[in-house]
Amino acid sequence: MHSALTLSILVLFSRLAIAALPFGNIGPEGTVLFLNGFHFLSGNASAEISANHYCTILSDDFLQCTVYTTGTTPAHLAGIEYIISPNLFATLPMEERQLWHSHSYEVTSGFLIEPHMPSSIDLSIMSNVLVGTYGKTAHTWRFDAQNKTVPEGIPELVMGYTEDGQITPDFVTKRDVLFGVNSTEIREQRENITKPVLIEGADSWVS
Ligand SMILES: *[C@@H]1O[C@H](CO)[C@@H](O)[C@H](O)[C@H]1NC(C)=O
Ligand SMILES: *[C@@H]1O[C@H](CO)[C@@H](O)[C@H](O)[C@H]1NC(C)=O
Ligand SMILES: *[C@@H]1O[C@H](CO)[C@@H](O)[C@H](O)[C@H]1NC(C)=O
Ligand SMILES: *[C@@H]1O[C@H](CO)[C@@H](O)[C@H](O)[C@H]1NC(C)=O
Repeated sequence: MHSALTLSILVLFSRLAIAALPFGNIGPEGTVLFLNGFHFLSGNASAEISANHYCTILSDDFLQCTVYTTGTTPAHLAGIEYIISPNLFATLPMEERQLWHSHSYEVTSGFLIEPHMPSSIDLSIMSNVLVGTYGKTAHTWRFDAQNKTVPEGIPELVMGYTEDGQITPDFVTKRDVLFGVNSTEIREQRENITKPVLIEGADSWVS
């Protein structure tokens, strides 16, 4: 999924970048990636969620992330995401694949960001590590409980957007302002990332 070089760059720079961040919490020891991206409730693409991911690398094929709410102090632990390589995804039975979402649009749209990461490093991580991957993510802090003090209810499956026009532009703008980034610029920086051919079975919510 990633070259050894990208991995060492990740370890070196992500720790520095995370240490300098003024928001959110640092995840468990071993976290090398800090990502912000958008999720939505499976079955309701208007239930938009901004999610901070703190990811550790378990192998070339497997990352795991804790997901925290964005812009709240203290940040709530909101869920988890498993991220796997296309090779590993392709081994899953079709029924299982329905629970996963692709990351290629999240990457190429500029919506998936690594706040404060130098753009050359970001480009390497996005194109060498993440663009072809698939994620499975469950939120323990439900969308309809987001304003409650206790994460009431059954954990829920969330998904990722796959094309323009699905997310409310204002939701993206608010996120950009919060993190001091410009998604449009990030999208332009990533314009030459090759979009992988999607493996059948993911993004089941689209059909
Ligand atoms: C989807 O989520 C939005 C935003 O919370 C809500 O207004 C709407 O009622 C939900 N739609 C359905 C079908 O649950
Ligand atoms: C949570 O509170 C915010 C701010 O008051 C509000 O905009 C949002 O709709 C609330 N969300 C839910 C799911 O009730
Ligand atoms: C973001 O970048 C784009 C492209 O460079 C630019 O057109 C736009 O005005 C910028 N938005 C903000 C809020 O700075
Ligand atoms: C993308 O590739 C084209 C053609 O090689 C080049 O002109 C352009 O500068 C590249 N864009 C970025 C952001 O690197």
